[in-house]
Amino acid sequence: MYNQIAEIYAACFPEKKRPWNANDFQELKNSGCEIIASQNSFVVWRVTGPEAEIISIGVLPDVRRTGTASALMQLMENDAKKNGAKTIFLEVDEANFPAISLYSKCGFSNIGTRPHYYENGNNAIIMSKDI
Ligand SMILES: CC(C)(COP(=O)(O)OP(=O)(O)OC[C@H]1O[C@@H](n2cnc3c(N)ncnc32)[C@H](O)[C@@H]1OP(=O)(O)O)[C@@H](O)C(=O)NCCC(=O)NCCS
Repeated sequence: MYNQIAEIYAACFPEKKRPWNANDFQELKNSGCEIIASQNSFVVWRVTGPEAEIISIGVLPDVRRTGTASALMQLMENDAKKNGAKTIFLEVDEANFPAISLYSKCGFSNIGTRPHYYENGNNAIIMSKDI
């Protein structure tokens, strides 16, 4: 199962020098993360007390802009709420316009930046949503 998610991950993040592999996803699951995946998409998140964090989300290029990520975001949010989260946080590359657009449409607001957070030197934008 995690092999297929790793393949989707690699296709979604072609710029990563070492994309997460099946073991990485297994370890995320073992460490308490939740994972939902389909044939062409995945989302990973974690709920810790009143806070949830989106770890990663991806949709294969062929099926983007069909509402898949929005649906995953809704499933994740429902689960986070059910498990006691009050706020969801995430970090996104300042240059990742599709993802920033997705999160904004899903109700997330920009609450800060982490300078030079990514391996490409870009800043991370921190976003959150109260649920
Ligand atoms: C970001 C990503 C997950 C979006 O997935 P998606 O299934 O295409 O998203 P949706 O179809 O649910 O789009 C929802 C909204 O997000 C915005 N959006 C998504 N992609 C966009 C793009 N390329 N340009 C502009 N807005 C975009 C739009 O507002 C869209 O609504 P609309 O189609 O009605 O205009 C996908 O592009 C992806 O996998 N990217 C590579 C991996 C990645 O960057 N993940 C996020 C890391 S933080």
